[in-house]
Amino acid sequence: MPAKPTKKPEPLFSPKAAANPVAQALQGVLKDTYALYLATHNYHWNVEGHNFVGLHTLFETQYNELFAAVDVIAERIRALDVYALPNHYEEVLKALQNLSNPLNKETAKGDVADRMIRNLLDLNGKVVDAAQAAKKAADKAGDDETQDLMVERIQIHQKASWMLRSIIK
Ligand SMILES: [Fe+2]
Repeated sequence: MPAKPTKKPEPLFSPKAAANPVAQALQGVLKDTYALYLATHNYHWNVEGHNFVGLHTLFETQYNELFAAVDVIAERIRALDVYALPNHYEEVLKALQNLSNPLNKETAKGDVADRMIRNLLDLNGKVVDAAQAAKKAADKAGDDETQDLMVERIQIHQKASWMLRSIIK
């Protein structure tokens, strides 16, 4: 007979997370960057229309950059001795749930790409907000390295937003 577990598994989430406001704010940046990465990669596969090549290529450039960024942000959280988004499936899915589905039956064929771009703009805006909050927390804590990283992330997402906005103008 298999032995019964005698105690509950320990939670993955380190209690230190709550005690470190910088790491906590970075979890938000990581979650939102991850969600944006997943959406961008998915749209790279599924975009259609007369601007297919341009969008397919732009989304590829962006998802590659985001994939690398997710790693850097997660490892900054680990450097602060906190586990990086241990419940990430739930957190990331929640971040994606509010998006419109550009591929649902009601979306007119010609509107699919526009809807993808609007979703990406929305998600880029969320990352910028989260990164601003992390930048402030880092400033307060005297954590220059996190602050520098957040400044860089904000610039990248503002540039990505400008490019996306220019397509649908
Ligand atoms: Fe590809």
